[in-house]
Amino acid sequence: MAVNEAPLRLGVIGTGLAVEQLHWPALRRMPDRFVVTAFAEPSPEQAARFAAYSEVDRSRHHTDHRELLARDDVDAVLVSVPIPLLYGIARDALAAGKHLLCEKPTGTDEEQARAFLALEDEFADRVVLVGENYFYRDDIRHARALLDDGAIGKLHLMAYRRAGQSVPREGGFSSTPWRQRPQYRGGVHLDAGVHDIAQIRMLCGDALGVHGGVQWANSTIDSPSDLTLNLTFASGAIGNYTACYSEIPVPAEPNDMRLYGSEGVLVLSGPEAQRRVTLVRADGSTRTDVFTGIDNGYYGELCDFSDAVRHGGNVVGTVAQSVTNMRIVLGALDSAERGAVVDLDPADEPGVPLWRPRGGTGLFDGMPGVRTSEE
Ligand SMILES: NC(=O)c1ccc[n+]([C@@H]2O[C@H](COP(=O)([O-])OP(=O)(O)OC[C@H]3O[C@@H](n4cnc5c(N)ncnc54)[C@H](O)[C@@H]3O)[C@@H](O)[C@H]2O)c1
Repeated sequence: MAVNEAPLRLGVIGTGLAVEQLHWPALRRMPDRFVVTAFAEPSPEQAARFAAYSEVDRSRHHTDHRELLARDDVDAVLVSVPIPLLYGIARDALAAGKHLLCEKPTGTDEEQARAFLALEDEFADRVVLVGENYFYRDDIRHARALLDDGAIGKLHLMAYRRAGQSVPREGGFSSTPWRQRPQYRGGVHLDAGVHDIAQIRMLCGDALGVHGGVQWANSTIDSPSDLTLNLTFASGAIGNYTACYSEIPVPAEPNDMRLYGSEGVLVLSGPEAQRRVTLVRADGSTRTDVFTGIDNGYYGELCDFSDAVRHGGNVVGTVAQSVTNMRIVLGALDSAERGAVVDLDPADEPGVPLWRPRGGTGLFDGMPGVRTSEE
């Protein structure tokens, strides 16, 4: 086996909910690409839990991430720690010579976002991917390919809503104390909202300006529960995004994204277990693609990362892309404070490239899950 075809020796830093529920289910399916050779986790309970389900030997556990970074059997690290700790550990990892897959967002605020951007230049010889799994989600990539093919003509309006109850639930992301008292700007909107913004940018392109408003209506989180924002896109299209993390139950809502074009409408809907992309043509005919068993993009994200380490080339989930997503949330918060439209700086990397599996011809080659189409 050629050296660069050997599985990447991965150190996992932080083994909480995201690793257990999102990354490990993908990693365990790709032993040809990754082998976990060490993990760092200060919580004894979390460490024991990770060792049990992953079967990574307890002798490979460190309580301090710097001990893990000193190991020479670690080529790359996955950093999945609370948001305020991401930047410092990401920097330590790069300084130790490791390739880096770091969870989003790119820091706590604009200042840390800039510091994250500087890492790309300072450590230009390492692969850095910031976890934005929506860039790799099959249904979103399919929708993007349809748009690129002109399926709805010229996009003029985007409408996207996400409303649901959010209260601490055992085993859920909302149960983590660091999310209830967030030490990062915008709370849940910087944490979860950046994914929705990634979807918006994948499908609508870059935005030039944002007008935002917030409400604090959820006593279980020390951050705004509601964010609504209007966007003007470089293409000339306009759009609205509304997110409500409600304290009380809300009626079932479609929570879909609708893209209105000159020749059709595209609707992205459905829960994680069954994502749907429906094209409604101007003549009223429809086509729906249904995606089941896809993993929300984590598998593709790990493929992109390992391919870049093995073969060189750029990843889609760059620091700059995540910073651009984050700046739309921060711009909306600025706008809400000032009561005025905020101009957005041009993106460092204009547009989001459409990721395709390396070496394949189709959009979904080698990806988990099943896709069916109904005309
Ligand atoms: N991409 C996604 O869909 C997604 C979803 C959820 C969370 N995330 C991101 O993943 C990260 C972790 O979120 P989570 O929900 O797993 O949180 P969590 O609190 O469940 O897990 C974080 C873990 O990091 C550990 N930790 C704390 N300090 C550490 C240190 N110095 N070194 C090593 N480990 C340390 C904690 O003990 C904990 O086990 C966050 O950055 C979050 O934004 C991404």
